[in-house]
Amino acid sequence: MEIESANCKYRVSECSDIEQLSIEAPIKMDREITGLEKLVEEIHKVFSKSHVNIQEVQKLMACYKSDPKDWKKYAKFDRFRYTRNLVDAGNGAFNIMILCWGPGHASAIHDHADSHCFMKLLSGSLEEVRYDWPENVEPEVVKKLKKKPTRRCCSESEELENKMNNVEISEHQCEEAGEYEAGNMNEIGRTRLEVDDVCYINDALGLHRMENPSYVDGAVSLHLYCPPFDSCRVFDSTTGKASEVKVTFWSMYGKKIKRVFESSPVESK
Ligand code: SIN
Repeated sequence: MEIESANCKYRVSECSDIEQLSIEAPIKMDREITGLEKLVEEIHKVFSKSHVNIQEVQKLMACYKSDPKDWKKYAKFDRFRYTRNLVDAGNGAFNIMILCWGPGHASAIHDHADSHCFMKLLSGSLEEVRYDWPENVEPEVVKKLKKKPTRRCCSESEELENKMNNVEISEHQCEEAGEYEAGNMNEIGRTRLEVDDVCYINDALGLHRMENPSYVDGAVSLHLYCPPFDSCRVFDSTTGKASEVKVTFWSMYGKKIKRVFESSPVESK
């Protein structure tokens, strides 16, 4: 299976031949999608099918040309940390959000909770830094693939079983989050993203963090996660020690939400 045919309606570990998901083909843009609303509509259309190709989603995101008038109502910045602003909950199959990065803001090194992560830069510039999983930490995706024979995840009949497996995995992850031995974080690559660039990552490809390298300008990015997740693991940049954190929203559908408690994968530069 190549990246074009991997089904991103399912968790990464539910897809067969996961090791081949790292193949990155150049995205061919054959049209322009005008407006963020139109992009969201097109993404809904794609996710209404039982099989969603990773590259199809990447391509849709690339075909939309960023225009601040489309997304400024979601772009809510905070002085101290980057913010996560929900744009669309994707009927539970995916979520789309806008992240606002003040000068120097950065996320902590994190995994993607076995989900697929697509990202497009809307404004400014961001640097993506990728890491290997720390020594002694085996990603859930690899553990799971070792445990059972791989299979394709296209059939409707497998859906229920997959969902049940997911519940098991997330409990398993919580139990084990404190058990990892420390190890150094090995940087494996850096990519500078400019406006309209699109990138993709999942746990089989490694860990990452994003950073706004500017000390003057903000940056805005559009993220699509599928399936959506509300917690992930962050890794200490020197020891590699993992901890589970909840991810929350700063605003939803353009309206700032009242915060009772907040914890998202964030680190100051
Ligand atoms: C990132 O990719 O660094 C953003 C993480 C998030 O969704 O908060």
